[in-house]
Amino acid sequence: MEKILILDFGSQYTQLIARRVRELNVYCEIHPFHKIPSLDDSVRGVILSGSPCSVRDAGAPNPDLSAIKGRLPLLGVCYGAQLLAAAYGGEVSPAPSREYGRAMLTVGDASDSLIQGLPKTTQVWMSHGDTITRVPDNYRLIAGTEDVRVAAFRIVGEQTWGIQFHPEVYHSTDGTQLLRNFVVNICGCSQTWTSESFVESTVRELRVKIGDDKVVLGLSGGVDSSVAAVLLHKAIGRNLYCIFVDSGLLRKNEFEDVLASYKDMGLNVKGVKADAKFLGDLSGVTDPEKKRKIVGRDFVEVFNEEAQQIKDVRWLAQGTIYPDVIESSSVNGPSATIKSHHNVGGLPEKMHLKIVEPLRLLFKDEVRRVGRSLGISEQLIGRHPFPGPGLAIRILGDITPEKVDILQQVDKIYIDSLRSAGLYDKVWQAGAILLPVRSVGVMGDERTYENCVALRAVTSTDGMTADWVHLPYEFLADVSNEIINRVRGVNRVVYDISSKPPATIEWE
Ligand code: XMP
Repeated sequence: MEKILILDFGSQYTQLIARRVRELNVYCEIHPFHKIPSLDDSVRGVILSGSPCSVRDAGAPNPDLSAIKGRLPLLGVCYGAQLLAAAYGGEVSPAPSREYGRAMLTVGDASDSLIQGLPKTTQVWMSHGDTITRVPDNYRLIAGTEDVRVAAFRIVGEQTWGIQFHPEVYHSTDGTQLLRNFVVNICGCSQTWTSESFVESTVRELRVKIGDDKVVLGLSGGVDSSVAAVLLHKAIGRNLYCIFVDSGLLRKNEFEDVLASYKDMGLNVKGVKADAKFLGDLSGVTDPEKKRKIVGRDFVEVFNEEAQQIKDVRWLAQGTIYPDVIESSSVNGPSATIKSHHNVGGLPEKMHLKIVEPLRLLFKDEVRRVGRSLGISEQLIGRHPFPGPGLAIRILGDITPEKVDILQQVDKIYIDSLRSAGLYDKVWQAGAILLPVRSVGVMGDERTYENCVALRAVTSTDGMTADWVHLPYEFLADVSNEIINRVRGVNRVVYDISSKPPATIEWE
């Protein structure tokens, strides 16, 4: 399979480069700069990412590019471009002022294959503290901005380019055209990486890899595990054994509804009701991390017990996706990852299981597209993320069955209202939180002293950063009324207007 390699120097935008390339239906992989993989025939070109480092720093990333430069098409972006200048006789200096934000690029050489088809002037996004002040003699400048003379260059006689702006960022209006020029016209990639081709080749590979073995997989109701299951099911049918655990901490009716839809999809799935165990073990526990550990441990116990009943099972399937894989090998070590609780600690070793992760090459939006092309319902594909420990970390303080019941009712009203107002798909994640405070209210002639709930809705792309959603006041008013009128035990509703950072999405 043809591919583009992206060497990562730690830029916040590296994953964005990969996504943009893949949006052009070209497969690409991110590798840390210090672990350049073998350059077999499948590699059609290489992109060097940006970096928080300066090429002037002692110890700045400076890999040996001799196997790449001059042999394969090469595009240096930002730090990548500065490296191509500094390491071959040019000069990089601190910019007089940090070059950050929008700038107008003027194309100097419209015939150059990297910038062909771009308008004469186009907006680009800059983000650097250093700037290239001198290029080696055989470097030809092909575009510049008012402040950045060396915005783009080509090395004469080579298929090597450097650009100091970020074509992958949305604000670079013609960035996609530039990347298309590079990966399609220059590298010659055929743009055949699609959801359909992914499904076809993955199913084929899974069949070869797994043969007639049995595979076990834990379903969470979320997008990743569901898509992984349907993909594996397509490959090996009933040899895929799915386990879906009811912790009693899911949304209202979620266990029954999702189990039914899994069965409708033809999956070989066993639903295991274990709510009594989870709620029993959580009783009296108030510390958030302890709650997480208990839910994690109970999940592992229940899952393991079920998995061990599957005779001769050889594989454990997981819904790991690409950001998890990249993060675990990134330049600066693992970045703050989304906490994951569905890791079935210890099981693979104990049962000698091999691991299969059919989605490990895909970004989240690609998982969704693959899910759609597998015919999974929009209802399931478009679901908001939901934390592994579920409502355990949305009931602040100790957990009782009554509190779970109250929160499930509130959450259902909120989520159903978002759906019927057409807002659900505009929100990245929403949920209700039961606060450990009671407040005074008045209902009829009576004073009440009851629970307060918070509503949360955020926009985000990956959960790392998030902003609160400006839900319409009318919507909030209606939801608040409905919750207070319909849910016994709640007399106050508040809306969370904190962004992440400094707050987090969950309250615990
Ligand atoms: P925070 O609260 O850290 O959440 O801003 C970021 C994203 O991660 C989810 N989350 C979890 N997911 N196990 C999970 O599987 C957890 O323990 C956990 N804690 C938070 C959260 O819902 C949000 O999507």
